[in-house]
Amino acid sequence: MTALLRQGCYSKLWRKHPSKTHLSSFDHYSQLYKESIENPDKFFGDAARELLSWDRDFKTVSSGGFEHGDVAWFLEGQLNASYNCVDRHAFANPEKIALIYEADDAKDSRNVTYGELLRQVSKLAAVLTSFGVKKGDTVAIYLPNIPEAIVALLAVTRIGAIHSVIFAGFSSGSLKDRINDAKCKVIITSDEGRRGGKTVYTKKIVDDSLKNAPSIEKVLVFKRTGSEIPWTEGRDFWWHEELDKQRAYSPPVAVNSEDPLFLLYTSGSTGSPKGVVHSTAGYLLGAAITAKHVFDIQEKDILFTAGDVGWITGHTYALYAPLLLGATSVIFEGTPAYPNLSRYWQIIEKYKVTQFYVAPTALRLLKRGGEEFITGHDLSSLRTLGSVGEPIAGEIWEWYHELIGNSECHIADTYWQTETGSHIIAPLAGITPMKPGSASFPFFGIDLAIIDPVTGKELVGNDVEGVLAVKKPWPSIARSVWGAHQRYLDTYLKPYPGLYFTGDGAARDHEGFYWIRGRVDDVVNVSGHRLSTAEIEASLIEHHSVAESAVVGVSDDLTGQAVIAFVSLKDGFDHTQEIKKELIMHVRKEIGPFAAPKTVIVIDDLPKTRSGKIMRRILRKIVSNEADSIGDISTLNNPQSVDQIIAAVDIQL
Ligand code: WTA
Repeated sequence: MTALLRQGCYSKLWRKHPSKTHLSSFDHYSQLYKESIENPDKFFGDAARELLSWDRDFKTVSSGGFEHGDVAWFLEGQLNASYNCVDRHAFANPEKIALIYEADDAKDSRNVTYGELLRQVSKLAAVLTSFGVKKGDTVAIYLPNIPEAIVALLAVTRIGAIHSVIFAGFSSGSLKDRINDAKCKVIITSDEGRRGGKTVYTKKIVDDSLKNAPSIEKVLVFKRTGSEIPWTEGRDFWWHEELDKQRAYSPPVAVNSEDPLFLLYTSGSTGSPKGVVHSTAGYLLGAAITAKHVFDIQEKDILFTAGDVGWITGHTYALYAPLLLGATSVIFEGTPAYPNLSRYWQIIEKYKVTQFYVAPTALRLLKRGGEEFITGHDLSSLRTLGSVGEPIAGEIWEWYHELIGNSECHIADTYWQTETGSHIIAPLAGITPMKPGSASFPFFGIDLAIIDPVTGKELVGNDVEGVLAVKKPWPSIARSVWGAHQRYLDTYLKPYPGLYFTGDGAARDHEGFYWIRGRVDDVVNVSGHRLSTAEIEASLIEHHSVAESAVVGVSDDLTGQAVIAFVSLKDGFDHTQEIKKELIMHVRKEIGPFAAPKTVIVIDDLPKTRSGKIMRRILRKIVSNEADSIGDISTLNNPQSVDQIIAAVDIQL
């Protein structure tokens, strides 16, 4: 590996590091990695005692496995998530800043110390108890990206309840489905939100969803803008009024290691969204240990994770990881383009951010905006620049490294998923040699396999390409799908028995670096948002004009992938621009703006096999201008449809 460092891998990266990294060298990583695979119980047992505080020590480090889907870690142990994130730091240093809130309008920004966070979390925990929420109950959270969202998640965990955050860009219909699936008793929201200078009508959307969500008994509303909002007496309560009634300290409830910490809904290739279930201790350990090594978090560091708390990146790296490590987390309510494309750089300069973490889609937008938005901003506090959610193209990587990182910062291209809980392939900042576009090497305890998708056999050695799987459980892997454990087994553990299947294609190059190729299932990745084509199709079919639909992802310069929807219309509906616009609006309204198709193409007939299966592969080829490599279409029930579709795409795309 030392040879690699000499061969032009980016190695001169730590010129201005103020202290030492947690590990001494890449050889040190290699040695610890080996230990973590050969003796995971020793490795993770030690790490769990070092990084987490326990109410009762565990005796059994791990049990179960992928064969039966009964993975469990740190058994007999008990702990509380909010105690680990807040109390222990508040007791040691109450004035230390836990959260820096950068509001959409910068003049509304403020800081929250660990001491204040403990008071807020304690009060809200007591409010939830007064609402009848008990250990094991689910609480829905539909909030903008503001400190109160962090307070809300932590307060739920303080009483041993389970949070289910729904990103505040989801429509009322999507919100309702998620509330009903988890049977949440209480929902926490705000009157409104502010994003990019625009208003988000959170309370109104919650009210719409509650028309068909009978499990919700109480709604707690944080006053963010103070606008007039609809109100239901007896069901709706103001956050500030309820918190004012409660004591500023309430004791945390110790839970078992394997008690669920939260659910987070994510899209799969089939059916409705899955409520991915994370356990308490394993997840917390995964968050803390990955951030410590991958981002090189030191106590004085200020981490700015630009992802919303409504997604897994916000859960793990805006909330749990920085607070578990006692660092400071920047919570940004706005967008990178408001009031102009300098916003991220202003924030980094203003707060002297040390680690910045964002999706490549934002970087593409900012690179396109031009250098004038970067010039003049002092970004010298930065040490680690993270990337997440989609592959980062070489040219974006170079731009990030040179212009934002002044060729001195480590780029951490982190590969992981909602289901993995924390990074599973990622470089360790200051330690791992970098290749632009490769997420590099597996994290501790992650035993990867590249599988030949046809034979199902592992491809050993270097210079191989196939689908990516993991051979052994690690602490932060999701334990189940809420209320549907069989679905968990079928989706992740059955495709390649004995392994966890990621759904991604990947290659291992001649030097052992991993390269993620993207999803091999019907999941598309638009601006780092994970979307299911099946869910968008189901939404289109609900429209009264649509007979059939098929949705595919195509590559897009700005958003990574874009959604293209093919529809055939019912008799009596004409193919007009209005109807196409209406269908795009329909998906915006039914799922959320981020899922809206970029284009709707109306065709007479979808290509199908004799058994009626829609051949999306053919549609994907046509929209990607690869019609000449479609291959054999004689097995189709309606081969003539292909020429018609090619003609339709020519005119309509
Ligand atoms: C993709 C986001 C390439 C991948 C944390 C995965 C990536 C899906 C990377 C999970 C990366 C995530 N390089 N692709 N560094 N990180 N992905 O659940 O396809 O929203 O399966 O979690 O994003 O998306 P999710």
